[in-house]
Amino acid sequence: MVNKKNLAGLSAATLLGVVLAGQAWAHGDVTPQAVATEGLTALGEEWVDENPYRKPSPEYAKAVEIGASAYTQNCARCHGLEAISGGIAPDLRELESDFDGDEWFQYRVRNGAVRDGAVYMPKMADYLSQEALWAIRSYVESRREEM
Ligand code: HEC
Repeated sequence: MVNKKNLAGLSAATLLGVVLAGQAWAHGDVTPQAVATEGLTALGEEWVDENPYRKPSPEYAKAVEIGASAYTQNCARCHGLEAISGGIAPDLRELESDFDGDEWFQYRVRNGAVRDGAVYMPKMADYLSQEALWAIRSYVESRREEM
């Protein structure tokens, strides 16, 4: 399980690993990390429009916990540890915790970001379940609250 203490204790070697992982992705070498989403309501194939685990959902805390680990393994290399952007990619805490924010979040994780044939962000929904991605969204929202 990931908590703040663990993240603060990340070694320089780990950080270098994150940077190298980012480069591997940039070359299209995708190594998604499996995310266990037991404890969260299953959502099926069809995407829902809004984060189903958002407060005051009783599953919010669980979603944040799962999302923290999933974010660290799949998004942090580009979007920054603890969702604090280091400048490589946008700071996800800037997204509003509402319908519009959800719409944009969902658009990007499903479509990725490709310009002139270069993949700036892979289609994360090809590798992670909808449940895992909304859990990540919940984690990012919890980080926004601490901004
Ligand atoms: C290989 C690097 C990389 C990885 C890994 C990555 N992203 Fe991104 N992401 C980007 C870049 C670069 C952009 C900006 C794209 C643009 O504006 O053209 C972006 C944009 C976004 C946006 C839109 C933000 C905004 O303010 O416009 C969201 C939401 C997002 N990413 C979510 C995620 C999530 C969630 C994950 C993990 C599941 C993830 N990304 C993994 C590079 C990455």
